[in-house]
Amino acid sequence: MHLPNYQEARSVDKKKYQRKNFQLDPRYQNRFQGKTCYLKTYGCQMNEHDSENIKAILEEMGFSFVDRYQDADLILLNTCSIRENAHNKAFGMLGRIKHLKESKPSLVVGMCGCMAQEEVVTDKILKDYGWMNFVVGTHNFYDLPRVLCESLEKSKLQVEVYSREQDFIEEMPVERDSHYKAYVNIIYGCDKFCTYCIVPYTRGRQRSRKKEDILKEIQALKDQGYLEVTLLGQNVNAYGKDLYEDYSMAELLEDVAKTNIPRIRFMTSHPWDFSDKMIEVIAKYPNIMPSIHLPVQSGSVRILKKMGRRYSREDYLTLFHKMKEKIPNCVISTDIIVGFPGETKEDFLDTLSLVKECHYDNAFSFIYSPRVGTPAAKLKDDLTKEEKEERLYQLNDLLNASFLDNNKKLEGKVVPVLVEGKSLKKKDQYFGYSDTNKLINFTSDQDVTGKIVPVLIEEAKTWSLDGRVYEG
Ligand code: SAH
Ligand code: SF4
Ligand code: F3S
Repeated sequence: MHLPNYQEARSVDKKKYQRKNFQLDPRYQNRFQGKTCYLKTYGCQMNEHDSENIKAILEEMGFSFVDRYQDADLILLNTCSIRENAHNKAFGMLGRIKHLKESKPSLVVGMCGCMAQEEVVTDKILKDYGWMNFVVGTHNFYDLPRVLCESLEKSKLQVEVYSREQDFIEEMPVERDSHYKAYVNIIYGCDKFCTYCIVPYTRGRQRSRKKEDILKEIQALKDQGYLEVTLLGQNVNAYGKDLYEDYSMAELLEDVAKTNIPRIRFMTSHPWDFSDKMIEVIAKYPNIMPSIHLPVQSGSVRILKKMGRRYSREDYLTLFHKMKEKIPNCVISTDIIVGFPGETKEDFLDTLSLVKECHYDNAFSFIYSPRVGTPAAKLKDDLTKEEKEERLYQLNDLLNASFLDNNKKLEGKVVPVLVEGKSLKKKDQYFGYSDTNKLINFTSDQDVTGKIVPVLIEEAKTWSLDGRVYEG
């Protein structure tokens, strides 16, 4: 049994991580032939991508996948800790699963992902969820076959969670959700420790993957016909800082662009590490998509300081306008938190005025959710739930108006769309994403799935655009 410990998670480990190739122990291969699994993924792209690895590992063990948890022999929840409602969803699901297990005792139930890394969660599981079979953490999810099998052999809940990063595991099997778009991890963890955020505790300290491994993976994806890669990390712009002296995100982006894979995206970018060199590279290569997610979190200098974001309102706006000016057709999206402890009316108005100035194309807005163990959770929070909700409504009204206004400017224009599939609702209707990452629904006489096609935009909506294939 290994349990998470935040103090250990925070500490810096000077050791050099070993690089190992994944190999499934032959004892576990096809051991579960004929058995089914329901894998539920909560949270961000990082978790989605981990699930693509987990799925492939479980397939090697013999599992096939089902869409209904009621039909499964194994239920695995890949969880998220970012806000209280992510917690509630997972615990709500566990409640339903417990009920099912009462009538189906052979059911195997496991948890992985960020919640597994939380001290409060594993304490609760050990105390009240002894009926579960296993918990594995984010740093050792590849160990799932062993932990799962040991839990069955010992008929006892196994909790195997390491607080700190383990070795780098390369050559992990992967069962990707898409045949056209792929996620590629470039950096794990985060060293920013924004005062509200749990991620540095659940994902560990920042460590970059070797550039050779990243480029090899992307070349292989391109050879297999993939059209788009998204370089993933909690803070991709810090890439390389822990590994190389003269190779950073800008150089990596340039090397990825030179593979000539048609579309490159990356997320998430912390403004603090966004270098001028990165802007130059993005502007120079047409296969680096001009759509950048640049979370601001707040427009108030005071709140930004309390959040530990390391930039001022002024710094953010300068960077924002520089990107808009230097990168052709640049579209910027953001994340915003309202109701951070001590956020006054004036602070909130500062957020609204920044949103007005940036006129975002897309954004995710959240009510602040205290996370146990983070510094902000100890701050006094005077605002009522109603006040926070009211601020979120006001903010969303402003954001939605700017999305629609920006989308309207695309009416009558032709945009390149990577087509993901056929719409279930209408005949001859397809959907995909534009270079600027907008959802496009359009008609076409031919099946254009898995291609990049020009689409003439006919009608703009707040969160999507309608059009038809442009035939010149
Ligand atoms: N690494 C990314 C963000 C990952 S979390 C970055 O720094 O940009 C995604 C978003 O969730 C954050 O940008 C933030 O807006 C929101 N978030 C994180 N912690 C939160 C909390 N405690 N309460 C509410 N929203 C939070
Ligand atoms: Fe969390 Fe801040 Fe790191 Fe993003 S940069 S993951 S918000 S600590
Ligand atoms: Fe959630 Fe973990 Fe991602 S907390 S947002 S799944 S890194």
